[in-house]
Amino acid sequence: MSGGRLAGRTAVVVGGGHQGEGPGGVTGIGFATATTFARHGARVAVVDRDADSARRTVQAITDAGGQALALVADATDDDQVRAAVDTALGAFGRIDVVHTNVGVTSLGSVEDITIEDWRTSFALNLDTVFLAAKHTLPHLAARGGSLVAMSSVASIRSTGYPYPGYAAAKAAVNQLTRSIAIEYAGRGVRANAILAGLIDTPLVYRQLADGSAGATRADRAARSPTGAMGTAQDVADAALFLASDESRYITGVLLPVDGGLHVRAG
Ligand SMILES: NC(=O)c1ccc[n+]([C@@H]2O[C@H](COP(=O)([O-])OP(=O)(O)OC[C@H]3O[C@@H](n4cnc5c(N)ncnc54)[C@H](O)[C@@H]3O)[C@@H](O)[C@H]2O)c1
Repeated sequence: MSGGRLAGRTAVVVGGGHQGEGPGGVTGIGFATATTFARHGARVAVVDRDADSARRTVQAITDAGGQALALVADATDDDQVRAAVDTALGAFGRIDVVHTNVGVTSLGSVEDITIEDWRTSFALNLDTVFLAAKHTLPHLAARGGSLVAMSSVASIRSTGYPYPGYAAAKAAVNQLTRSIAIEYAGRGVRANAILAGLIDTPLVYRQLADGSAGATRADRAARSPTGAMGTAQDVADAALFLASDESRYITGVLLPVDGGLHVRAG
């Protein structure tokens, strides 16, 4: 699409693959963000460790008339991220927007989780943001660009789930994002994080389900101040705003997309 809010831009979505729909046709945030960026005119490099997932997102974009490239890389691996960024740059000539989407939860108290669980939380939730930023910032700084990091309301308050490694790693994502924001503010790069609340995505049913999909959905809806979970599209629309020039004077922000969950005590 030409003339959209990201027309002429290139976006890299790390963890942008489509693992398949969850119950009721729900999709992931990476898929929703990549397809939304493309609908608004961006050429999109979809980076995912799973080739089929990356291809599914790219297929959805090209079927709709957009331009996209599937890149297989483990976002926790320095060399693989550097290579993916180089390939995206070679294909599209510029990088304007980076959305870091990879994340994983690990349920259990501090006593329950293992050191491996803890390290996995930090590798997937935090290292992936560090490496994506490290390898794209020189290109973002070349023209003025936007980094959007996926964080969680769990980084600032309890969401009711016991996942200390996830909460701690997402808190670190927030401060990494703010560090980048202030360090690069004078070089035209903006960095913001989205604190997603209770969002209806396939990840929920894979990692947080306690019982049937219907019971999980009802439980999460009841925990949401609005009485309903958010959708991946709600998050993608916020990411589009933070990626586009409409937010050109906004940097270092931790934006809750959570139906008010961050306001509620307890
Ligand atoms: N769903 C929610 O309620 C919720 C709430 C708060 C925050 N979030 C955050 O939103 C983000 C996205 O969630 P989602 O539901 O779209 O997840 P998802 O599982 O649908 O998508 C994540 C993608 O990342 C890919 N991936 C995983 N590990 C990777 C690696 N090492 N290298 C490259 N790719 C890798 C997966 O293959 C998948 O395609 C996560 O960071 C999550 O913590 C989600």
